[in-house]
Amino acid sequence: MAFPPNFLEEIRSRVSISDVISKKIKLSKKGKTHWGCCPFHNEKTPSFSVNDIKGFYHCFGCGAHGDIFSFEMNANHLSFFEAIEKLSAMAGLKMPETSSEDRAKEKEKNSLYDVMELACGYFEKQLRMPIGKSAYDYLKKRGLPDEVISHFRLGYAAGDGGLKSYLASKNVTEAQMGALGLAGFPDDGRRPYDYFRNRVMFPIADKRGRVIAFGGRVMDDSQPKYLNSPDTPLFNKGYVLYAMSSARDEAFDREEIIVCEGYMDVIALYKAGYKNAVAPLGTALTENQIAELWKVAKEPIMCFDGDKAGQKAAIRSAQRAMPMLRPGYSLRFAMLEGGLDPDEMIEQKGKETFYGFINNAMPLIDIMWNEYALDRNVSTPERKAELEKEIYDAVGQIGDAMVKEQYRKEVKNKLWNLFNPNFASRKQQKNDANQHNKSLKDKMIAANVIASKNIISHLVCFPELFSKWEEDFSLIDFGELSPIYNSLANEMLENDFKVKDELLAKLAGDVSEKLKKTLGPQIAEISKKQLYVDEADAIILRQINALKLDLIEKQIKEISESDSFDADKLKLWQELTKERENILTANIE
Ligand code: UTP
Ligand code: MN
Repeated sequence: MAFPPNFLEEIRSRVSISDVISKKIKLSKKGKTHWGCCPFHNEKTPSFSVNDIKGFYHCFGCGAHGDIFSFEMNANHLSFFEAIEKLSAMAGLKMPETSSEDRAKEKEKNSLYDVMELACGYFEKQLRMPIGKSAYDYLKKRGLPDEVISHFRLGYAAGDGGLKSYLASKNVTEAQMGALGLAGFPDDGRRPYDYFRNRVMFPIADKRGRVIAFGGRVMDDSQPKYLNSPDTPLFNKGYVLYAMSSARDEAFDREEIIVCEGYMDVIALYKAGYKNAVAPLGTALTENQIAELWKVAKEPIMCFDGDKAGQKAAIRSAQRAMPMLRPGYSLRFAMLEGGLDPDEMIEQKGKETFYGFINNAMPLIDIMWNEYALDRNVSTPERKAELEKEIYDAVGQIGDAMVKEQYRKEVKNKLWNLFNPNFASRKQQKNDANQHNKSLKDKMIAANVIASKNIISHLVCFPELFSKWEEDFSLIDFGELSPIYNSLANEMLENDFKVKDELLAKLAGDVSEKLKKTLGPQIAEISKKQLYVDEADAIILRQINALKLDLIEKQIKEISESDSFDADKLKLWQELTKERENILTANIE
């Protein structure tokens, strides 16, 4: 017989283990622990301990160990069921329904699944009929091929009473329709109404693929954009992840699961070949959902907007996960740029760009660290201590002792680096170089844009560095940032700027607009850091090296992939690898 979730927990919390055991043997209390002579082996001096707080007994003599249930089973020779019966009575709890009632309930539930399946099929059919044309066109306009529409079983709900008649013709009762949130039946005699009206329907399935709810999207700007089924006997939204049933096999095989925010994101990812995406249903991730994700992959990747709201959402899921972390199990965070959701990013920038963000997903500790330490003024001992306190408090939320210890160590390190910036920046360079060596390929997609952005922003803040690097810059392809760079370079070549403000004042109209738009936040951030000129210089050097490495790596790849490999190519290859070595070691020194 199945017990409701938490039933055993409830008994444990109501019955103290020392009460149960003292009915059998004599216990005496010392501190927090009760002691007695072990009922499981013969002894004269007590080595049997009982801990009420932890809810278990342990014998230091024979190693017997367990909770109230195992005590009843072993000391009083009861079956598990009998033990529960006895202890639930002690707890003043009613046993769950008898199994025949259980079976009736199960049967009723089964027929509810059947009803949802009928409704889903009905909506699917409607989408392909003249009445569903506007919905079908809408999905086409959003770029969904028929194959994808069928895979996700998308449909159309007209809300014209058709569903009710159809279900009634299949002997579905009004009570069932009501319980499933498909239709409403007002008490005051007004006509029953369809819950979903003129919406594109996204069926929501449980892990086994049975339809348990729907999300319905309007096709214009009216509100709410998505209407979801209410909670029903089949559906509890904090326990469900959209598309889990279809994503889990793929996710399990790839050992990677992507969590995005919405229905359309999951579908866009599927279309782009990533069949391992799921989404919560418009709420922050729950503990239960995290546990479900961990059953398929150890480090689910959460996708969020890189903007303020996205950061907030990310830190919220990070905090939710922290008490649950255990060795090997965590979350990673892909922060998408440009205010785009995955659907929009794939559409506008291509799936490779999106995958670049997935590959560079940040570990949980970085999300947490940034939340507390980024852009933080720690110039006085009190401020340092304040940061230290906040961040160690956060680490204290971690439940698992080993994970907590690792976090402590890493946070300690990071704090030390933050409080000793000069030493830290040398070390960081070393790390960066190593990192480059290892995962250069991963980083290539993002490196160019980021490095170019960094170079130009630092130049704006430190105009006096321009002449030093001018020659190197002329070799760089700044891509879409080239126009900005060119205007800046022209200005600098003509004038000898000493400070940022002077330069900014001189840059008129179009350029400064573009500059503000694309690099404004970055420039502000650099200004805030109050770097010394040699620190800025070191940063620029690193970025130039990053770009050079990028270029070298591309050439090396070309050579190694080409069909013919002659003496010239071999020579070039040797030069390139040497050059790469030089840059990497220079970075380390
Ligand atoms: P979004 O507003 O980001 O929508 O909501 P979206 O997923 O990008 O959808 P499109 O691209 O505009 O069609 C994210 C998720 O929040 C829930 C839904 O699960 C949605 O997919 N949501 C949103 C609701 O439940 N109700 C709403 O009114 C809006
Ligand atoms: Mn969207």
